[in-house]
Amino acid sequence: MNAVTLPQLPAAAYTPLGAEVFRGLTTRPRTLSPWLFYDQEGSQLFEQITELDEYYLTRTERDIFRANAGDIIAAASGPTPHGLERELTVIELGAGTATKTGLLLHAAVRRQQAVTYHAIDVSESALQEAQRNLTAAIPGVTFQSRVGDYTEGLGEIPADGTRRLVLYIGSSLGNFEPGDARQLLCDVRKQLAPGDMLLLGVDLVKDIPTLVAAYDDASGVTAAFNRNVLARINRELSADFDLMKFRHKVRWNGEHSRIEMHLESLMAHDVSIDALDLSLTFRRGETIHTENSYKYTIQGTQHLLAQTGFTVVENWTDAHRWFGVFLARVH
Ligand code: AVJ
Repeated sequence: MNAVTLPQLPAAAYTPLGAEVFRGLTTRPRTLSPWLFYDQEGSQLFEQITELDEYYLTRTERDIFRANAGDIIAAASGPTPHGLERELTVIELGAGTATKTGLLLHAAVRRQQAVTYHAIDVSESALQEAQRNLTAAIPGVTFQSRVGDYTEGLGEIPADGTRRLVLYIGSSLGNFEPGDARQLLCDVRKQLAPGDMLLLGVDLVKDIPTLVAAYDDASGVTAAFNRNVLARINRELSADFDLMKFRHKVRWNGEHSRIEMHLESLMAHDVSIDALDLSLTFRRGETIHTENSYKYTIQGTQHLLAQTGFTVVENWTDAHRWFGVFLARVH
C-alpha cells in the first residue's frame, strides 16, 4: 500500500485570507484578489477615495440618481408584460454604507408611502452604518440587513406580493472578469421571478487620463489603499512587508478595457509571512497585480444584460457619459 503524504501547511493557510495570500503570492504573475483590500482600515480608505476630486465615479452616479430617482422608481414600478404596476421591495447587493441609496428610497417612499429595503453586504459594521444613515433620514423605510455573500442571500428574501428591485450599483461589477460578471448576473437572474428588476451601475470607457487619475490621485489616498493590502497581511498573517519598498502602479489596459492596479517592488528583497511558513523573494521591478476595474460601454452593458436573461428597460447617464445606470427586467 502506498501512503500519500500531503504537504503540511500551517492552519492559517486554510482560512479564506491565508489561502488567497498563499495562492496569490506563490504563483506567477503574483496576484491578490481585490476583496483583500476591505479590512476596517481599507474600508475607511475606500470611503476617502469616494470623496476625492479625481474619483468621479461615486459623485457621478449620485448625480444621476439625484436627477433621475423619480423616473427610475416609476420605470421600475410600472406595468410590464408580466403584469400591472407593482409596489417595490428594494434589495441592495454589496450595500456598504449605502450612501447613494437614500435618493432611490426617498423616491420609492414618495411613490408608494413605505418601502422595505434589504441591504446585503459582507461587512457587518458597514451595514450598521447604512442603517444609521437611512432610517433616521427617511421615515417610511423598513430596514433589513443580511451579512453574507450576495448571490446566496438573495433567494431567501420573500417577495410577498411586491416586485423586487435589486440594486447592484457603484461599479462593483467592474472587479469581475468578464466570464465571472456574466456568471454573477446569471446567478442573480436565477433567484428572481419574471417581472423583477435589476438596477446596474457601471463605469464607462472614457479618455485615458481621466481614468488613470481616478486610480492614481495626487494626494496618494489610492496608493495607501493599495499598499494597505500588504499592511493587512503584516497584521493578520505576521508578515514583514516594508510598504515603502513597493510603488503604487496604475495602468490602462485597452485590450481588456480595464484599469489595473499593481504593487511594484522597487528593489530586490525578501519578505517572510510567518503564519504561512512562507519566505518570498521579490526581484526589482516585480509586481503584485492587486486589482482589475473593468470599464464598459453602453452597448456592451446592454449586450451583457441581454445575454444573462434581462431586458433593458431604460438607461441613464451624465452629461460627460462617464457613468451608466441601467434598469433591466427579468424576462
Ligand atoms: C469598489 C470596485 C468600484 O474599481 O473603482 C477604487 C475600487 N479601487 N479605487 C473601483 C477602487 C481603487 C472600486 N470599486
